[in-house]
Amino acid sequence: MLEGRSILLIIGGGIAAYKAAELVRLIAKSGGATRVILTKAGAQFVTPLTLASLSGNKVNEELFSLTDEIEMGHIELSRAADLVVVAPATADLMAKAANGIANDLASTTLLATDKPVLMAPAMNVRMWLHPATQRNLETLRRDGVSFVGPNEGDMACGEYGPGRMAEPVEILAAIGDLLGAKGMSKGMSKGMSKGMPMPPPAPIAELAPPRRGEGLLAGRHVLITAGPTHEPIDPVRYIANRSSGKQGYALAEAARAAGARVTLVSGPVSLPAPAGVMLVKVETAREMDQAVEAALPADLAIFAAAVADWRVREEAGQKLKKDGQAIPPLQLAENPDILARIARHPDQRPPLVVGFAAETEKVIEHASAKRMRKGCDIIVANDVSPASGVMGGDRNLVHLIAAEGVDTLPEMSKAEVATALIRHFAAVLAGRKES
Ligand code: C5P
Repeated sequence: MLEGRSILLIIGGGIAAYKAAELVRLIAKSGGATRVILTKAGAQFVTPLTLASLSGNKVNEELFSLTDEIEMGHIELSRAADLVVVAPATADLMAKAANGIANDLASTTLLATDKPVLMAPAMNVRMWLHPATQRNLETLRRDGVSFVGPNEGDMACGEYGPGRMAEPVEILAAIGDLLGAKGMSKGMSKGMSKGMPMPPPAPIAELAPPRRGEGLLAGRHVLITAGPTHEPIDPVRYIANRSSGKQGYALAEAARAAGARVTLVSGPVSLPAPAGVMLVKVETAREMDQAVEAALPADLAIFAAAVADWRVREEAGQKLKKDGQAIPPLQLAENPDILARIARHPDQRPPLVVGFAAETEKVIEHASAKRMRKGCDIIVANDVSPASGVMGGDRNLVHLIAAEGVDTLPEMSKAEVATALIRHFAAVLAGRKES
């Protein structure tokens, strides 16, 4: 269900807009909250009054509305949401979003958001099949946008074919899948993450070229940690390490491209949020530990973060001063070992748990021992000695250490390593008995 979840619903202009009102009602029934952005064209089909009554919130229509910008501007609207849903997604809205055009509240919000986006297209069959719309669909998929529908059937314009908006219950199920909501009808949104039409599969599926590793992880939840942690000493100083987060972010993108729902728990990094991924930002190891626990259950958990082993036992409330006194001693305390804890989780151990080992010598020997110690299934080991240039760099050479033996991948970019690893993990998962 959607308790505590917030959906930003963008309603485009099409006859299917009337179904958006039903979607607002279903979200409310599931315990979720909806804020609505209604395009000018959308307002021709459904009134702001209806939507405000169903959502219990003011409906947003204008980009340059002074009161709205004070109350809740377009940035704030998407910031407050867990997911942005566009239903109906008209050909015009898809074209704007695919090309970064921002000339009204809906399109500006779509360009400004860093939240996952789900589109439910609705348009005339020939508009849907037009190469321009198909190009835009492919671009949006590559940008990480998820799709539900369109369905095939009779259309309001009297024609038949793919172009009917998915039914509100199907969109609700797709929302549940993307947000990992418990107790929502799973199978309903099958094919959603692949961006493919709802059943029966419409011929249009063949027109769209497959994405990298598409579908290998469809229906799976992948949990990834990335980046360093910052352990505060006082309000202005902290202990950190040189992890850039690049490998973990690349893994999140590759898992997303393989159709998974991805939760990325990230320490402080200067990387853009990967599209279509649920990003949870944390600072300390203890916050990362809590965020990982909250994201369970998962089918695959990849611990790529360089978590600080120690924190300062007691963070100073004020900035430490060097006013001629003795150097303050830093008392350290051990941080939780997130990987080891999840690998031995009493009731929610993910079926496949992967750790990373950054070693500067005897890489395979040390990493094999680490796999046993941590209790994970696979350790991805890499050489981070300064000579390797891996830390902060764009290339990586990794060894996969499992109970069955060691595999060494050729040196590749971190993005290529990520794709290869995700393929490997998907194959391992597929070979395991479902629990
Ligand atoms: O012990 P070490 O830091 O070398 O182990 C590396 C692996 O363990 C990585 O997968 C890292 O993300 C994970 N780890 C963790 N929590 C810690 C320390 C490491 O999840 N406190």
